[in-house]
Amino acid sequence: MTSASVRVPAKINLSLGVGPVRDDGFHPLATVYQALDLHDELRATATDDGVIAVTVHSEADPSAEVADVPLGDDNIAVKAARLLADDSGTDLGVDLAIRKVIPVAGGLAGGSADAAAALVACNEVWGLGLSKAELEPYAAQLGSDVPFLLHGGNAIGGGRGETVSPVLARGSYHWVLAVASQGLSTPAVYAEFDRLNEGRTVDEPQIADELLAALRAGDAALLGAALSNDLSDAAISLRPELRDTLEIGMEAGALGALISGSGPTCLFLVDDETHRLDVSFALAGASGCADVIQTRGPVPGARLV
Ligand code: C5P
Repeated sequence: MTSASVRVPAKINLSLGVGPVRDDGFHPLATVYQALDLHDELRATATDDGVIAVTVHSEADPSAEVADVPLGDDNIAVKAARLLADDSGTDLGVDLAIRKVIPVAGGLAGGSADAAAALVACNEVWGLGLSKAELEPYAAQLGSDVPFLLHGGNAIGGGRGETVSPVLARGSYHWVLAVASQGLSTPAVYAEFDRLNEGRTVDEPQIADELLAALRAGDAALLGAALSNDLSDAAISLRPELRDTLEIGMEAGALGALISGSGPTCLFLVDDETHRLDVSFALAGASGCADVIQTRGPVPGARLV
């Protein structure tokens, strides 16, 4: 039977502007995405029984299943395959095997990444012949970050995150990630954002000119100073030790620090090898920090390998 493998990156938000909650429960966003060189891999094998099945294994221990990732119809990669199957009318099924490297519930869009990978892989093994542009509406239905993960690179996100447009950007950036020992639920962080802003006027979200200028110039120091995340206070309110983690990385010489998406992963922009090691060492001892990852961005989005 036909098989295909897809590599798909994690995402970060260099800036995440969040507006007042909409009637549908989502928040309008104005964000700048960057895809990171930290990839999940998904292998899809077509079957002729019409069944969609998934297995998920961690990179660290290939024999172990990954905690907190559902294996049934709730798995977002299964939802992606189901959406494509129902719409295309194919009689074929698929076995999806995911090798997880992106931390789960870390604010790095690991679930959305697997959904984007499943769209690309199923399109291939079922011979549907859809273009990336034709996969986009499915991606948008599956989650706010999924369309960006089809594209990768750097991009501006609007709507609830699902509308992606190009941004003028230069340079490659080095990041140190402090991965927390326990994940955070995205809906819980948005709910905390609403609670903290109760009775206040929340402005429509914006992207700062300084951030766009830093990306145009490819200037890491300017970018470090322009990083921002409107969900920071909400994530710190639910996980106060994140404030200390951010401080530890900045004191060790990072050019900038911020919480990734809805957290709890903390991101540190560094500009050379010395900085990278200093920041990594300092974070390795921080309480609540389970792992330190060194990586870079931008990289391309979901693609066949
Ligand atoms: O779109 P996605 O499935 O990633 O969203 C997960 C949850 O995060 C939503 O159910 C919602 O609670 C929250 N969210 C939001 N506004 C956004 C994106 C996500 O409130 N723009």
